[in-house]
Amino acid sequence: MPVDDLIVGLDIGTTKICAVIGEYTDTRRIEIVGIGTAPSDGLRKGVVINIESTLKAVTKAIEAAEMMSGREVSSVITGIAGAHVEGINSRGVVAVSGRDREINEEDIRRVIDAARAVVIPMDREVLHVIPQEFVVDDQGGIKNPLDMIGIRLEAEVHIITGSVTSAQNLLKCVNRAGFRVEDIVLESIASSRAVLSEEEKELGVLMIDLGGGTTDVLVFVDGSPYHTDVVAVGGEQVTSDISIVLKTPSEFAEKLKKESGCCYMPLVDPDEEIFLPGVGGWPSASIPRAELCKIIQPRMAEIFSLIRDKMIKKGYLNHLRGGVVLTGGGSMLPGAAELAKEIFGVPARIGYPFELGGLVSEYKNPMYSTAVGLIIYGNETASKDGEMKSGGRRGKEGLGRRFRNWMKEFF
Ligand SMILES: Nc1ncnc2c1ncn2[C@@H]1O[C@H](COP(=O)(O)OP(=O)(O)OP(=O)(O)O)[C@@H](O)[C@H]1O
Ligand SMILES: [Mg+2]
Repeated sequence: MPVDDLIVGLDIGTTKICAVIGEYTDTRRIEIVGIGTAPSDGLRKGVVINIESTLKAVTKAIEAAEMMSGREVSSVITGIAGAHVEGINSRGVVAVSGRDREINEEDIRRVIDAARAVVIPMDREVLHVIPQEFVVDDQGGIKNPLDMIGIRLEAEVHIITGSVTSAQNLLKCVNRAGFRVEDIVLESIASSRAVLSEEEKELGVLMIDLGGGTTDVLVFVDGSPYHTDVVAVGGEQVTSDISIVLKTPSEFAEKLKKESGCCYMPLVDPDEEIFLPGVGGWPSASIPRAELCKIIQPRMAEIFSLIRDKMIKKGYLNHLRGGVVLTGGGSMLPGAAELAKEIFGVPARIGYPFELGGLVSEYKNPMYSTAVGLIIYGNETASKDGEMKSGGRRGKEGLGRRFRNWMKEFF
């Protein structure tokens, strides 16, 4: 089986590392053929802090996916996250160059170049430049200006940057584990590909990826991203709260959260009791489930309120006609959607990864949205390469690649 027929998403998360292998069918559709996970302990809040243990977990996750699929992985598309990630909006203007005033690819390249020419500190690099809309002369709201006639071309873009060293450490882990990195994609951008419908993005939607170490936020308006944010609080914090209040080890608190946790009091039966086995010499006991909810709900409410306040400040709260979509492992907490609906005042749902073909079904869990999204993203990039005939997914670096990187963000 030629390696080019595989497309592998590698999500290096704070609590788990997950590899998902997609394979092209004869009809160029993608089927999921393997998935592998390994516990992650070399990251803090989305950022690699221990190369050795991360690369071991990367190897373990990919080997498990290889074992399940019977395929061999040589390269991956990996995600990046962490509080160092920032998104800004920018715009650029150029004069249309052709004598016939017809906008060509070179004009689009120049206008995006102009829009991304903002001052970026030396220690940061651009991860994505995503066109939001083009303005031709005074006509705005144009998604693709190619071949239109005009004199003046403007582009509005969302630029996402991240710390150079974080990306380098990530690359190092994957390379040292023996795999090539085809692309580095912001994790929330990847997740959005796996869980948001085109309609939601057009209507305006807030996606919240509730991870272990961080909570990632991405806002779409009129089909394009306008706001990227990372809140440095995640599911681990919820577990730690339970562990502190109930004076129990964090492994047990984690188990309790997953088995009996809830973050919305109206869903809890006041008479329901949960059993706490004795740990460390303490006798076993039982507590009302409502007590556990009282520990979890304030932390989840704090995370959502923090995000809501930022939405209000940036003026996006009134643009969320598509509601809120929660994904990531933390969204599995019962009551998450109900609490979000109450705090944001718009409909909220849990985002499960879209159905892809194949016999493997384990990926249909919000925990795997990022990994599945990396595959979908990689596939879009690959097919756009094909359209542009710029030398395939593994084409040469240089101008062609740079242009491809801009073009891949289109639509
Ligand atoms: N059924 C469940 N109920 C409640 N919480 C859950 C459940 N399943 C997983 N979680 C929580 O989800 C979190 C892990 O989510 P996820 O796998 O998306 O994180 P990650 O990708 O490893 O971390 P990050 O994205 O922050 O780097 C953990 O805190 C875990 O406790
Ligand atoms: Mg994650």
